[in-house]
Amino acid sequence: MSQLAATTSTDQALVISGLTRRFGGVTALNGVSLGVALGETRALIGPNGSGKSTLINCVSAVDRWDEGTVTLGGAPIKGRDPVGAARRGISRTFQTLRLFDEMTVLENVMVAMHHARGYGLFSAITLGPRFRKAENRMRHEARELLALTGVERDAERQAGTLPYGHRRLVEIARSLALKPTLLLLDEPAAGLNDTETARLAELVRRIARPDLSILVVEHNMEFVTSVASQVTVLDNGNIIAEGTPAEVREHPEVLRAYLGSSEDDK
Ligand SMILES: Nc1ncnc2c1ncn2[C@@H]1O[C@H](COP(=O)(O)OP(=O)(O)O)[C@@H](O)[C@H]1O
Ligand SMILES: [Mg+2]
Repeated sequence: MSQLAATTSTDQALVISGLTRRFGGVTALNGVSLGVALGETRALIGPNGSGKSTLINCVSAVDRWDEGTVTLGGAPIKGRDPVGAARRGISRTFQTLRLFDEMTVLENVMVAMHHARGYGLFSAITLGPRFRKAENRMRHEARELLALTGVERDAERQAGTLPYGHRRLVEIARSLALKPTLLLLDEPAAGLNDTETARLAELVRRIARPDLSILVVEHNMEFVTSVASQVTVLDNGNIIAEGTPAEVREHPEVLRAYLGSSEDDK
């Protein structure tokens, strides 16, 4: 059993190898290699501008890259193909919130399900019984995801009218609607207060599953420590440390990177 699990997790994991992304003269990622196993929650930390969002953008294929490879389950992900990446089970949230403010919370989650299951305009217009049945099933699943993330009471509200912390949770519910094997969270606790951050950490622990890899970008070390077993530290596009939260916190390179950058931080 454990042998099988070990084989599967190597096959299914995210493997980033020698990833380089340049923007003109800026090397945002400089030959970055890192892996996330199935069932693992890994945190990605680093000062502002160190390349964290660029890495998330490459892996989710929102962006392209100059050198290196990204594979999921042993098969390559190609750049600038976010729909292809989503079909492969890669789901993400954005550093700046992206919800359809005019739609209800429930609709926001259901949109992602339509997208994932490839229901075309034709079946939606004709409203055939198969579509309606699928629609009911999706509605049910969407409600379950809202319950999981703790915002089920907001289901019928317009997303734009929700407090910020709740909208963040809706975004996570929506990212789960794709039934991902890899979940990428870019600063999910940004703008949250301490109580909301603690609640979010509890949620991230709750969504962790043996068949899901989670890569979470976060600054808040308390949050990182409570959700991730392993931490990768980026600085200037290079990995400068890797280890448990306790290990990286004491790492001289990490201390230097954060102290050095604190003067430049806005
Ligand atoms: N689309 C872009 N065009 C030009 N430069 C970019 C672009 N995206 C990111 N960069 C640059 O790449 C570096 C890494 O940025 P980013 O990945 O956003 O950092 P982080 O998320 O760690 O704060 C920064 O120097 C940033 O200015
Ligand atoms: Mg960023």
